[in-house]
Amino acid sequence: MNTIKNKSVVITGATNGIGKAITKELTKCGYYLIILARNEEKIKGLHKELLSINPQVELDSYQVDLSLVKETNEALIKIKEKYDKIDVLVHSAGLIPNKIEKTSEGVEQSFAVSYLTRFLITENLLPLVLKSGTKLIFSVASPGHNGTIHFEDVHFDHRKFMPVEVVKQFNKCNDVYTSYLSQKFSSEALNVYCYDPGLVDTSIHLGWPFPFSLLMRGIAKPFFMKTPAKAAEIPAKIITGGFKPDGIFVNSKGKLIKCPEITGNREYQERVIDLGNEIIEST
Ligand SMILES: NC(=O)c1ccc[n+]([C@@H]2O[C@H](COP(=O)([O-])OP(=O)(O)OC[C@H]3O[C@@H](n4cnc5c(N)ncnc54)[C@H](OP(=O)(O)O)[C@@H]3O)[C@@H](O)[C@H]2O)c1
Repeated sequence: MNTIKNKSVVITGATNGIGKAITKELTKCGYYLIILARNEEKIKGLHKELLSINPQVELDSYQVDLSLVKETNEALIKIKEKYDKIDVLVHSAGLIPNKIEKTSEGVEQSFAVSYLTRFLITENLLPLVLKSGTKLIFSVASPGHNGTIHFEDVHFDHRKFMPVEVVKQFNKCNDVYTSYLSQKFSSEALNVYCYDPGLVDTSIHLGWPFPFSLLMRGIAKPFFMKTPAKAAEIPAKIITGGFKPDGIFVNSKGKLIKCPEITGNREYQERVIDLGNEIIEST
């Protein structure tokens, strides 16, 4: 077992799917885990499971609904008070919506979890990450799909709900923000990655409307879906320093994904960052 002592990782999505599989790998390596998750029972169950992998595992958890800016901010304040530095930040919390649902703060739910609070967490914890030796931010997402960001109608209030469009929108925001971080902090040797796991057998596909549910469970699952453990292999290698890709957008084979040119455009990046800040301020 490869032991990486005294390294800390903040991770979301650790209670299920790909995030959980990554957490298990980091547990084997002796990382200190700081977990943001919404379900107290699942956090307890996860802790038990991790102790069976590594009886020395240390876990600090914060119960937080990551669709809510207020709750996420409260957890971030506590984390910033408690820690001077954080080595790694892993974003894996996310969802794919099957209908438009707004949070109590008025944000489209999948945008809130899959982009907005990721952005909020990164902006808040970046100074701590930059103080570490590792300086690594890793997002599990779906880069490279070139969706449209509807700056004037992010929450799909005035357009027909299309799950694909909603998903492409938050993924485009993630791509642009990843690219921005990589460019802006290159002189500080920040390592940023946005990872596409491909089709993975997790609960994210449950609850999709027919016929997508049938396609996923009946056809994709037996023939194309990988296990979360398989999907966590490349992330674990990158995080533990066993593999350094030549670019920031990476697939499950460790190969680079090409994103459209606009992703690297500074003006566009600033528009996306302003959008995130404006929505956060409005909540
Ligand atoms: N699976 C795939 O085929 C696939 C493909 C491409 C990209 N991805 C991306 O990979 C990431 C991880 O997905 P997955 O497949 O591992 O999904 P998953 O098994 O459904 O896990 C999602 C995780 O996000 C957490 N989460 C969701 N909403 C939350 C909220 N409001 N507050 C706090 N935590 C919340 C869940 O918490 P609970 O445990 O409490 O439910 C769970 O831990 C997502 O961003 C997804 O878009 C997945």
